Amino acid sequence: MDKSLQSAMDFAQKWIDIIHKDTITEDEAKAIIEESKYNFAEHFNRGWLDYRKSITEAGDWASVEWTGNGAVFRDVLGREYIDCLGGYGMLNLGWCHPDVIDNVKAQLCRSPMPSQELIDQLRGVLARLLAMITPGDIKYSFFAASGTEAIEGSIKLAKMYTHKNGFIAALKAFHGKTMGSLSLMGKADYRTPVGMLYGGPVYHVPFGDADAVEQQLEVAKKVGIEIAAVIMEPIQGEAGAIVPPDDFWPRIRELTRHYDVLLIADEVQTGFGRTGKLWGVDHWGVVPDIMALAKSLGGGVMPVSAFCSTEDIWQCMMFPNPFIHTTTTGGGALACSAAIAAINVTLRDKLWEQAAAKGDYILPKLHSLAQQYPDIYHSITGKGLLIGQHFHNPDVGYKVAAGLFRRGVLVAGTLTSAKTIRIEPPLVITYEQIDTVLNRLEDTLREISKSI
Ligand SMILES: Cc1ncc(COP(=O)(O)O)c(C=O)c1O
Repeated sequence: MDKSLQSAMDFAQKWIDIIHKDTITEDEAKAIIEESKYNFAEHFNRGWLDYRKSITEAGDWASVEWTGNGAVFRDVLGREYIDCLGGYGMLNLGWCHPDVIDNVKAQLCRSPMPSQELIDQLRGVLARLLAMITPGDIKYSFFAASGTEAIEGSIKLAKMYTHKNGFIAALKAFHGKTMGSLSLMGKADYRTPVGMLYGGPVYHVPFGDADAVEQQLEVAKKVGIEIAAVIMEPIQGEAGAIVPPDDFWPRIRELTRHYDVLLIADEVQTGFGRTGKLWGVDHWGVVPDIMALAKSLGGGVMPVSAFCSTEDIWQCMMFPNPFIHTTTTGGGALACSAAIAAINVTLRDKLWEQAAAKGDYILPKLHSLAQQYPDIYHSITGKGLLIGQHFHNPDVGYKVAAGLFRRGVLVAGTLTSAKTIRIEPPLVITYEQIDTVLNRLEDTLREISKSI
């Protein structure tokens, strides 16, 4: 490994030149694939190449992404794929949405980042826009880059407001991987290797079980452990598109009020229309005290996240120390310009209605495939365009994902297992593309069923 500064500069320049290219030759593409695999293996994370073998072993050449439009993206070799993963919920608007790119470009050329001292107007605009579209009295927002930061902020806000330390979260919950969010995580795989997490008590209950939440609140009260908040995803995403019973959210809203505990809705994945309503909690008309947003807030163009709450709860963010929570790069002008455009497109094109209609189109077809292939499928779950295909075991799930990828459709398992494969396309996917996906899925299932 050449450690010289000159070779680092040459290497950076080579890639700056590639970034500036509109097109590349086949030989250049093959060189990019080989080098990308090397860079990942030697300098990023070799495990990712093994884990993503359906992609790294796709045909003769691994697939390295290049560009996209709507629900279709192309790799460096020009092969096209229909995206049914949607960046795990980040691409509700699809790849490279022109209105978002246009707004970001305009802001980029003026001033990408704020001074940090003057008033940067777009932060205020985005906070006001979110106040206009979030449920109930939610009025104030703070901006960061990732979903996990939005959860960290929500945890901190709940603790500061209530002066309590405990949290109740769900089994299989996924709220991010920084230390606070990780302590709410409902999966041992990510917690155990890290050891001691957040010092306050965190109790996990089965998702969708309001009785279990009630029991936990009652036990905590009896033993004198103070609970700051109950935090839940409206529909669990990473767990495989798990929809709770209809009375779950209304009941936990009632219970949290009764026990004087805040209710945090993690809308990082379910927000901005994904499940067929603008917000996941809208399915049940519930107004949470704190909401965490991320992923599609940036329109698939910029990383931006937010946590939002009411004026009453927000007092502790403003007084006595208005800088109690800050981050230098979060909520910069580029991020806000992307979010403003993304919200505009989401509202203008009523993307949640598209998600609801397209989900209603896909789900019955998947149910009938599951009936047709009972040896392969365990069940189908989901709402809108957050859909889970559950298989009898991860091997079969992997075969489905790999078979689909070979046929030009990208889907993804949950982070550590292919036992569940999500279908989570951009909400702008066309019906023609959906039909193509379903045909390719059927073809894949036919092939797998012959082999088992
Ligand atoms: C519901 C939910 N919350 C939080 C997160 C964490 O977001 P990020 O990966 O941007 O940190 C995720 C990520 O998948 C998520 O699905």
